[in-house]
Amino acid sequence: MMRRREFIRHSIVGGGALWFGRYSPFASASGTSASESRIEVLLGETLGTISPNIYGHFAENLSGVVYDGIWVGEKSTVPNVHGIRKELIDEMRKIKAPVVRFPGGCFADSYDWRDGIGPRDHRPRRTNFWSGGENAAGPASRKYDPNEFGTNEFVNFCRLTGAEPYLAANVRSLPAEEFDRWVEYCNSPAGSTTLADMRGAGGSAEPFNVHYWGVGNESWGCGGNFTPQEYAVEFRRYTTWVPGYGQTLSFIASGPSDDGWDWTRGFLEEIIRKGPGQLRAIYGLALHYYTWNLSRGRTTDWNQGKGDALNFDAVDWYELLRQGNQLESLVDGHWQVMGEFDRERAIKLVVDEWGPWYRPGSEMTPMDQLEQTPTLRDAVFSGMTLDIFNRNPEKVAMANCAQLINCLNSLYLAHEDKFCVTPVGHVFSMYAAHQGGQAVRTVFLVPEISYDRDGKPATLWGLMGSASLHDKQLVLTVVNPHVSEARETEIGFRGGAVKAAMVTTLANSDIRAHNTFEQRDLVTPQSKALEPTTVERNGRQLTYLFPPASVTKLVFALA
Ligand code: AHR
Repeated sequence: MMRRREFIRHSIVGGGALWFGRYSPFASASGTSASESRIEVLLGETLGTISPNIYGHFAENLSGVVYDGIWVGEKSTVPNVHGIRKELIDEMRKIKAPVVRFPGGCFADSYDWRDGIGPRDHRPRRTNFWSGGENAAGPASRKYDPNEFGTNEFVNFCRLTGAEPYLAANVRSLPAEEFDRWVEYCNSPAGSTTLADMRGAGGSAEPFNVHYWGVGNESWGCGGNFTPQEYAVEFRRYTTWVPGYGQTLSFIASGPSDDGWDWTRGFLEEIIRKGPGQLRAIYGLALHYYTWNLSRGRTTDWNQGKGDALNFDAVDWYELLRQGNQLESLVDGHWQVMGEFDRERAIKLVVDEWGPWYRPGSEMTPMDQLEQTPTLRDAVFSGMTLDIFNRNPEKVAMANCAQLINCLNSLYLAHEDKFCVTPVGHVFSMYAAHQGGQAVRTVFLVPEISYDRDGKPATLWGLMGSASLHDKQLVLTVVNPHVSEARETEIGFRGGAVKAAMVTTLANSDIRAHNTFEQRDLVTPQSKALEPTTVERNGRQLTYLFPPASVTKLVFALA
């Protein structure tokens, strides 16, 4: 076991260097500490409100996501509410799903919203953006979009689940006028316009009041292949004088992927060429970050570099987490670049696509393009990612896990009458408790994990997490990425005291464990009350053993 003097490399989250001087992890009353790992929750240091929207979702019209996943149709034998899968609605309500982004992704810049309105049996069939990747033996609707699930159905889905709609508009292949018209269709008052009447004929006389509007998607690539300067010009044009109908329209600009600093800088530089007031049109800048390269440095090829979703070893596990963790420095980096232009800090980051992306082969439903089966590894990855967002509430206003169902890092898998919640879905249910809370600075002083990366030493942080305050309650989430070792940890509370906690744990002895249609509950969270005596020193400290390969939520009452 690592000794204290080897405790040189440690993880400090959020300005911990300063903190270290003030509160040494060993500065306990007796001057000694039983554990080598310590978490300090600084109850007096709030970082901002955690936007519920960072727990958002993404549903693209891609293979089995919409058709089969969400939409089963009103005549289906699968239990449904107005055509929408009932079990999905029930589960999304449980996790307090705040917002859903639709219809893409790359699909968005090929989509004509007019195809998805009016009587369903009159809607046109169109070639889906993703048709080229569909299996010839797959359902025809995957290649040729029947448009049964359009704007009314999507907004109805949002209403049933309690989420807000976030529509991504087409900039590549529809004119700006069509953007105005889609807003008019959604938001113009009942009976006011021809489009409002058409909306009413579709079942919703009252406006949808859609606030979040994406202006294109990945405009540097599938969304038009623009330079950042060209896109900025389009963005200004598409967002100027869009009718508001008394609503605030929050425009989300297509942003960078990964460390595309040039995109962020080039876009904002061009935006303010017409004056800094132009920045006010932007609510958020979208950042996309997929974790996909498990080749351990052997290649940067998109296809060759991917790993397997189900068959992986401990090194693959650590590599995925290490790479996924880089999202925090990307958030910091883009935030810094944004600050060069946006001195008032009006523009936030919207991480509207994130998650691991593996090579094909683990689909629960054969022929579901881009579908993968999430394991415990993806649950730990997702906990880690949500903790990153929690720790950066002033920077990240929204995030959307890619994607909701039957796709990449899905919360749910479904086919016909079969359905299961994945380990990722369970993490969203555990972390829902953070929504709307005040993030509090939490410092992790934990020995790193060392592992052998094909003959070369590599390291990963030992524990990571986040905390939030809710009136008289404190929520602390922690992931232990060690594949086989539990981590005994002292948790100290500064600036307040706590009473005994409820603990919820997601773990399994098999790091590849996952749920299936047949074994739906192999990986599920377990909750229990902690003994009141667990909390020592008048509510200032407890020692907790975090199981290996786990996600833990501790909920304390404040004393
Ligand atoms: O989520 C799948 C695809 O990944 C999206 O359509 C696109 O935006 C991204 O490249």
